[in-house]
Amino acid sequence: MTQIVIRIEDLCKTYFMEGGTKQDVLKHVQFKIQKDEFVAIMGHSGSGKSTLMNILGCLDRPTSGNYFLEGKNIAQATDKELAIIRGKRIGFVFQNFNLMMKRSLADNVSLPLIYQGVGQKERYKKAVELLEKVGLKGYENRLPTQISGGMQQRVAIARSLVNNPAIIFADEPTGNLDTRTSVEIMNLFTELNKQGITIVLVTHEEDIADFAKRLIVIQDGQISYDGPREDYKT
Ligand SMILES: Nc1ncnc2c1ncn2[C@@H]1O[C@H](COP(=O)(O)OP(=O)(O)OP(=O)(O)O)[C@@H](O)[C@H]1O
Ligand SMILES: [Mg+2]
Repeated sequence: MTQIVIRIEDLCKTYFMEGGTKQDVLKHVQFKIQKDEFVAIMGHSGSGKSTLMNILGCLDRPTSGNYFLEGKNIAQATDKELAIIRGKRIGFVFQNFNLMMKRSLADNVSLPLIYQGVGQKERYKKAVELLEKVGLKGYENRLPTQISGGMQQRVAIARSLVNNPAIIFADEPTGNLDTRTSVEIMNLFTELNKQGITIVLVTHEEDIADFAKRLIVIQDGQISYDGPREDYKT
């Protein structure tokens, strides 16, 4: 049985600037994403990719339209409701890793658990387990400054997994990495996808998009292609 995790309908986002100017950044976007999918989103700079990811990731709301996440319309959810959904169902990975540089890798991974009242010992145990899962066994007491960029991104991925998310949103996760390290990170996402996590990833690089089965291309706030990755020709 296929299971739809994301469904957006007629989604629009307009930014209103001081002085009364406005910019329509997303224009009537729609698609569905199923649980087992690995989707790449591509498009020129300024086309609206991050704006879309922020809405899908419950960091922002659409101006109009519907967003059904696991069947529930959350287009007009409150900040508090969105924060709860984010904490429980969604993992994020960013281009610049966003780690706390003065805290251990274990602390970085397990930080979200503090807000759930999980005790120190239990947090450490979970961090060790997740670091091992991303290939960083034995690194729990290091600082981010003592490991490579690729390893830092692995830590960020481990952190994104801490609440057993249904979906991981990654906005240019390999943008700061060399080719070989990028491939390793993409293999890790592929593995997580096989384990049942939906992956939605923004990239500028064709080689990175090749790891996804489906490609969505955004052009000036509208979808110009949505289909199998291999059928898309630039
Ligand atoms: N908070 C904001 N307020 C006003 N305008 C914004 C805001 N965020 C983005 N924009 C505008 O919306 C458009 C789309 O931006 P967005 O960041 O979604 O593009 P992108 O496709 O992610 O680009 P890039 O590839 O450079 O990351 C741009 O013109 C940008 O200036
Ligand atoms: Mg962007």
